Amino acid sequence: MNSVDVKNLSVKFGDFYAVKNVSFAVAEGEIFGFLGANGAGKTTTIRVLCGLLIPSEGEASVAGIDVQSNAIEVKKQVGYMSQKFTLYDDMTVAENLAFTAALRKLDDKKFLERKAQLLQFIRFQRSEDTMVRDLPGGIKQQVSLVASVLHDPQVVFLDEPTAGVSPAFRQRFWGLIRELASVGKTVFVTTHYMDEAEQCGRIALMKDGELIALDSPENLKKYSFPHKNPKRVSLEDVFIHQVEGEPAR
Ligand SMILES: Nc1ncnc2c1ncn2[C@@H]1O[C@H](COP(=O)(O)OP(=O)(O)OP(=O)(O)O)[C@@H](O)[C@H]1O
Ligand SMILES: [Mg+2]
Repeated sequence: MNSVDVKNLSVKFGDFYAVKNVSFAVAEGEIFGFLGANGAGKTTTIRVLCGLLIPSEGEASVAGIDVQSNAIEVKKQVGYMSQKFTLYDDMTVAENLAFTAALRKLDDKKFLERKAQLLQFIRFQRSEDTMVRDLPGGIKQQVSLVASVLHDPQVVFLDEPTAGVSPAFRQRFWGLIRELASVGKTVFVTTHYMDEAEQCGRIALMKDGELIALDSPENLKKYSFPHKNPKRVSLEDVFIHQVEGEPAR
């Protein structure tokens, strides 16, 4: 079964198509990169897949559940780390996680179990009573990842989880992403960093709401520059050529 199935999906805001006739599928356990320039429709697509936004046209299902007819069930099956909001700065780590657990209706026993397991997973060394505002950005993003998977969802949507994070922390964050995938979780991730995109199994390229390419990093390089040695092509070249419309060199 596919973890994510999208067929002819469109989202309109007034007359404007933020997402236009997009179709793709993501397999279980895949690390799926979702790339595109600012305003390409990435976050909008994710919001549909998390059961937060009703599509204007087409269909989408996550973990086999239709997002339109069963949004409540979809919300239970997905973890979502949103692009703008992560955690409450004026609450401690423990308070933030407890609050998330309450929203997710986790019972106390399950919550404490998962919290201990996941803080160990990110190798959290500080006190849980640390205020989130006092955490370095990279650690805040890791704690935010913990919050998004507290209820043990099958599919995790990470919308620019490493934006503004230093290289060492970005690398660590990707280690966590790989660990999640290795235990069978499906990770759907957006990024503007091409070194991160390189670590995805497959990449979807979005442009002005449309899906313009979908393949492995290696194949995207081959198809985008058929006359060049793929080893000498970077994903940055592919992105600029495909998404930003620069002519092939
Ligand atoms: N609620 C809304 N009402 C009207 N227009 C919207 C709304 N949400 C998004 N848009 C528009 O839809 C387009 C796609 O936005 P979206 O946030 O999905 O892009 P994105 O690919 O996530 O961009 P970024 O890389 O900047 O996060 C943009 O032009 C945006 O301004
Ligand atoms: Mg976005």
